[in-house]
Amino acid sequence: MMSNTGENQAQAEKIKGYYRFQSGIYDLTRWSFLFGRSAILKALPFAYEEPFHLLEVGCGTGRNLALAAKLFPEAKLTGMDVSADMLALASKRTKHQKRTILLEQPYESQYYSWTNKLDVILFSYSLTMINPQWRSLIAQAYKDLRPGGIIAVVDFHDSQVPAFKNHMANHHVRMDGHLLPELEAHFYSEYQEVKTAYRGLWQYVLYVGRKV
Ligand SMILES: C[S@@+](CC[C@H](N)C(=O)[O-])C[C@H]1O[C@@H](n2cnc3c(N)ncnc32)[C@H](O)[C@@H]1O
Repeated sequence: MMSNTGENQAQAEKIKGYYRFQSGIYDLTRWSFLFGRSAILKALPFAYEEPFHLLEVGCGTGRNLALAAKLFPEAKLTGMDVSADMLALASKRTKHQKRTILLEQPYESQYYSWTNKLDVILFSYSLTMINPQWRSLIAQAYKDLRPGGIIAVVDFHDSQVPAFKNHMANHHVRMDGHLLPELEAHFYSEYQEVKTAYRGLWQYVLYVGRKV
């Protein structure tokens, strides 16, 4: 059996390889299927309680960090990702955002110790790609949030079309309705919605939970 660190490294290497090419077409293509990314930021109950510190785990090309900077001009924003190719694009996109920092590393306990607990942790289409560690990342988010802090997740939920699930598995995405029960087990649910895409080809989930 692989150790946690070995598993994390293997996952990170696989993803880095995947995004070496995909980073070049990411922003051109993902708007057509990564639904709910703006909606999850707009659903944050922190909008009028600035300043706060938001971490996005798997920030990719910085699309959400750029929108968060507009929505929450006082917020401190941290983006974390394992892919240097994705982060290079995020860095270009956020270079004028003074309160944004980017970290190239996987999200796991031994890598980072926050000086202060976080107010918001966002996972936008990252958890379904972090296999098999997605469960320990949710537990880590619980530890890193302050009491009353918010976890916000938007991601693929499930599909009743096996061929589509297989196709997504080939792109490192697991969609088995597995995230929602684990989120509900850790957090007090403030908002959750499962929506359908392309006439039911798949469902995606929006979840906002509070650490109590
Ligand atoms: C589908 S993209 C989502 C990017 C962005 N959040 C968005 O909504 O456009 C998934 C991102 O998660 C990152 N990722 C995958 N595994 C990770 C890990 N263990 N730690 C941090 N980031 C990871 C990938 O490199 C990729 O940039």
